[in-house]
Amino acid sequence: MSQTVVTGDRTIGPLHLGHFAGSLQTRLQLQQNHHSFILLADTQALADHQGDYRQVRQAVIDVALDYLAVGIDPKKSTILIQSMVPELAELSFYLMNLVSVARLERNPTVKAELRAKGNEGHKVSAGFLSYPVSQAADITALRGTLIPVGADQLPMIEQTNEIVRRFNQTVGSEILHECQALLSNTTRLPGIDGKGKMSRSAGNQISLSASSDEITAAVNKMYTDANHLTIGSPGQLEGNVVFSFLDAFDSDSAQLTELKAQYQHGGLADAVIKARLNDVLQNLIAPIRQRRHELAQDSDAILSLLLCGSAKARETAALTLHKVKTAMGMYYF
Ligand code: TRP
Repeated sequence: MSQTVVTGDRTIGPLHLGHFAGSLQTRLQLQQNHHSFILLADTQALADHQGDYRQVRQAVIDVALDYLAVGIDPKKSTILIQSMVPELAELSFYLMNLVSVARLERNPTVKAELRAKGNEGHKVSAGFLSYPVSQAADITALRGTLIPVGADQLPMIEQTNEIVRRFNQTVGSEILHECQALLSNTTRLPGIDGKGKMSRSAGNQISLSASSDEITAAVNKMYTDANHLTIGSPGQLEGNVVFSFLDAFDSDSAQLTELKAQYQHGGLADAVIKARLNDVLQNLIAPIRQRRHELAQDSDAILSLLLCGSAKARETAALTLHKVKTAMGMYYF
């Protein structure tokens, strides 16, 4: 059965290879059989980047270009700007009354993010704390049934369904629908330094718009195996970023198996595996970069596409809001 897929990105900068290995490939597959809404979550981005209006606005354009460059098809996937669908903010406001502050603080993803802020924690905004509610509003307003997520976003889906049950219970009618998480089975791509996953905030990413020189520089900097001191000594695959990347992107699996065996046995230089990875990444990114460059020539066309997507999403969201407000008795004429 065809489902309504809702996904999104908290847009604060262009997308990188970690997004490509994870969410982007899943979205490309899903758009074949399902209708998708893809949110450029600018409102949510501001919750964690107070006042960075310019950066967030630029990121909306950059990420839209990334989507289109990798092959997201606007005929199959509706790309929308979160702030251009005010119904999402309105629904968030109603749903916020159904969630306690304590429950938000217990959300494991929020908890981890709060912990990461360390002694800056007291500066956390009410908007940030309640972003799981805004996400629940995105999903339910657009009537999403299938939500592709990485493991760290599972608590968001659990909380969304909790809110849906709570809302339906308070109004005594099944107005909102529960959704199902689709857990991506791709392992998280590490950053080039091998310290945790690839992320812009850690500065260990390779952007989808990286130049040829930037790709080569990143591959050369990549962490391999600190104990692989001479070419002749056996090398390790675990924790070796170059092999994690080859696993994710090298389609010649026979040759890769061979390279791994040689590396583990000893006699294969880091320079050789890095040269292979450099080739693979140059071939992967070159057509994306080219397409992105072409699309970027006509920024008006990109903006009008986002305007259309947002208007289309608004129709669905407005219908949900109409049902929600009617059920709440908030209809005055
Ligand atoms: N929270 C998601 C992220 O961190 C972005 C997002 C916003 C989202 N609204 C959503 C994801 C709705 C799925 C469904 O990138």
